[in-house]
Amino acid sequence: MATSKTYDNTALQEKARDHLWMHFARQSVMTEGDGVPIIVRGEGHHIWDSSGKKYIDGLSGLFVVNAGHGRERLAEAAARQAKELAFFPIWSYAHPSAIELADRLASYAPGDLNRVFFSTGGGEAVETAFKLAKQYWKLQGRPTKHKVISRAIAYHGTTQGALAITGLPGMKEMFEPVTPGGFRVPNTNYYRAAEMGFTGTEEQFGLWAANRIEEMILFEGPETVAAVFLEPVQNSGGCFPPPPGYFQRVREICDTYDVLLVSDEVICAFGRIGEWFACDAYGYVPDMITCAKAMTSGYAPAGATIVSDRIYEPFSHGSVSFPHGYTFAGHPVSAAVALENLDIFEEEGLNARVRENSPLFRATLEKLQDLPIVGDVRGDGYFFGIELVKDAATRETFNEEESERLLRGFLSKALYDAGLYCRADDRGDPVIQLAPPLTIGPAEFDEIEQILRGVLTEAWTKL
Ligand SMILES: Cc1ncc(COP(=O)(O)O)c(C=O)c1O
Repeated sequence: MATSKTYDNTALQEKARDHLWMHFARQSVMTEGDGVPIIVRGEGHHIWDSSGKKYIDGLSGLFVVNAGHGRERLAEAAARQAKELAFFPIWSYAHPSAIELADRLASYAPGDLNRVFFSTGGGEAVETAFKLAKQYWKLQGRPTKHKVISRAIAYHGTTQGALAITGLPGMKEMFEPVTPGGFRVPNTNYYRAAEMGFTGTEEQFGLWAANRIEEMILFEGPETVAAVFLEPVQNSGGCFPPPPGYFQRVREICDTYDVLLVSDEVICAFGRIGEWFACDAYGYVPDMITCAKAMTSGYAPAGATIVSDRIYEPFSHGSVSFPHGYTFAGHPVSAAVALENLDIFEEEGLNARVRENSPLFRATLEKLQDLPIVGDVRGDGYFFGIELVKDAATRETFNEEESERLLRGFLSKALYDAGLYCRADDRGDPVIQLAPPLTIGPAEFDEIEQILRGVLTEAWTKL
């Protein structure tokens, strides 16, 4: 779906500099160097900037465009729905596309997760799960169960409730006091397990890390804890998959102490790990799933909190309601796009494709371990993190100044200049994160590896 539209880069840069407030970014980049990168077009796994340069989209935008860019049928589905019914709320009313999408999501969800509460994005889905957990326990006559547990460095969104669950101190300090009741336990970074005081096998580490949740529940008092929020594979910090047995032990702990298990699948759902919902990949059934991003592959915004029959039951009768909602949640256009997007997944077998290709993607990236700067390659599905270190033997990481110089000063721009859009992240130890569209295959794995090899080799000389 090529477009010949041309853009006046100078005029756009000026307008951006004068009026656009970028998220999670230093506004100063607008006035430095070439200004902000302006992306104007996407096709498959490629994107183009305003000067016409082409890049591999190594991050699916922001873990979003799983079906790839430029899908005309998604644009057409949006247009069809907008012509038919552009907007109607799901506040005491309903419309066909929201109903059909709720039905479809429930059919994909594991166990008895049959009820779908829509939102417009991931943070709202998390916020919804937090509020729902609190009200659920109040309705059970256990009003003191309101605290939430999550893991160190995990990102769960930016609203003040979701921020209480987010485990990144730097994202909270400017907004304290955030919603009270958020408690942190260790994550499943096996590469850094020794620094958390653990030595042993990965399986033992999983048990150890899960038991930290039990410890926190007991420390705070089970009658005060409402829910545990965990990503199947934690993104922040650079792709921490669950060690074998981790989620089985977590489920057991949650059942023992009547604590709800929320699987935050804002990134991991819709094929990223090769399943509709990643909890299926790791064999656990949560009480709630939060999802968003790739539900529509980004062609329209949507989010959802999918809830078990047990959690829904007290809301299902009499005068009880959940006093919560969003104007644009279950938006007809977003829901129609989501349904079409899920059709594409089914027709092209994208989940199976990820499962089949993931080992080769991993093996291709693992070739980079011959570079002295590469400490660890980890992840699952089409979701990998490459941890960079100063000394691969001792696993010594970079200090703040080196990290700033390496990641912000060199790597992000160098990778982009070399034609790969991905993320160089230092929320935790420095990592390069990859989450490309699920349509790519062996040829693109090699291409990504070659670009990374060139840039990381040069990065080493800059240290
Ligand atoms: C695990 C997780 N939860 C929640 C969110 C917040 O989603 P959103 O940016 O759509 O509000 C994100 C965003 O990346 C996420 O990765």
